[in-house]
Amino acid sequence: MSRHIDTELIHAGSPPFHGGAAPVNVPVVRTSTVRFAGTAEYDSIHERRAAGENIASYGRHGLETHRALETAINALEGGTRCFLTPSGLSAITLTFLALLSPGDHALVSDSVYSPLRRVDQQLLRRLGIDLSYFSPGRDRVEDLIRPQTRLLYVESPGSLLYEVLDLPALAQLARRRGIVLATDNTWGSGYLYRPLQLGAHISVLAATKYISGHSDVMQGAVVVGDDELAVRIAQASDNLGLAISADDAYLSLRGIRTLPVRLAQHQANALQVAHFLQAHPRVGRVFYPALPSDPGHALWQRDFSGANGLLSFSLREDDADLARRFVDALELFAIGASWGGYESLVQLAAPARLHEHSYFTERRPVVRLHVGLENANDLVDDLSRAFQKAAVAPRR
Ligand SMILES: Cc1ncc(COP(=O)(O)O)c(C=O)c1O
Repeated sequence: MSRHIDTELIHAGSPPFHGGAAPVNVPVVRTSTVRFAGTAEYDSIHERRAAGENIASYGRHGLETHRALETAINALEGGTRCFLTPSGLSAITLTFLALLSPGDHALVSDSVYSPLRRVDQQLLRRLGIDLSYFSPGRDRVEDLIRPQTRLLYVESPGSLLYEVLDLPALAQLARRRGIVLATDNTWGSGYLYRPLQLGAHISVLAATKYISGHSDVMQGAVVVGDDELAVRIAQASDNLGLAISADDAYLSLRGIRTLPVRLAQHQANALQVAHFLQAHPRVGRVFYPALPSDPGHALWQRDFSGANGLLSFSLREDDADLARRFVDALELFAIGASWGGYESLVQLAAPARLHEHSYFTERRPVVRLHVGLENANDLVDDLSRAFQKAAVAPRR
């Protein structure tokens, strides 16, 4: 009998019974090394690992806590192998380094998590790996594929303005042209969006966000459903020496148990905030794919099972000083990067970044909110008061 994913997430990796009893929670198995019963076992375990089995021969590979988290993330994403990394960014970099060699080219959607551009300029370019960017709304991706293109790397919805991509169409194209399609699935977290089912080869996650969910862990994951890709990612991960602590694996596992209920509440709160913002005279446009007015709404309805707490909005007037006064006047939304924790956060988008996005032609100041799990009426009151305070505060 197949079970609902909510049930799978509660039970994934549950410890087995020993002597008739077992703890509910997976033990935190901290170790830097592994003991072997004898030289025969030492040889056999090393051989099994070399043949691709996910078995630990050394502390860096992680033990029971890591395996349990990998099992839960594989259940979420519908993957067969999950590689845990020390941050979301390292999961992205691992994907590029595992798949690309000097002379190779990757085609990247222009609304991806922006630090990838720094990885491009400061690391990949030095290695002779070439990246170019496309706008999903403007460009015909097929025309941009080169003979050297090995990887199509996207993020849907995109960072900041949440442009929804037609992933099944991109997957068809990638498969037709023999290119790997990888997607950053941090927004969907495997729960709201399952790229591997839609045809992508690789799903990349910042577990730092909703998976851990409590703003106390840095972590990433690369998930695949293909044995050949798994070998390539495993080798690159081993060679880069990527490892996470058992304590951090435990924290993400604890977070994942409540992912469905947290996401449902984030969505409910974000919708209330989005409706408030849409009706507010100071607001230009609200970017949130769950709103029927959002240009990505139809694709979101087709491919996603829900939304989360991230939304952005532009001000009606092109007044950067007003935007700053508004952000400074907020009390419940803390100014800070990241998202996916239980708390509300706000960030002012740098105008230069916005201009890279051509799906939307937004030129006014954009504010990004992470709508947390506080009471939604309190959050709306905070936003409402901040608009009033910003309107009467002196210009800087
Ligand atoms: C979409 C997306 N991917 C990846 C990352 C990177 O994750 P981390 O902060 O764990 O390196 C972030 C961080 O904000 C993100 O928003």
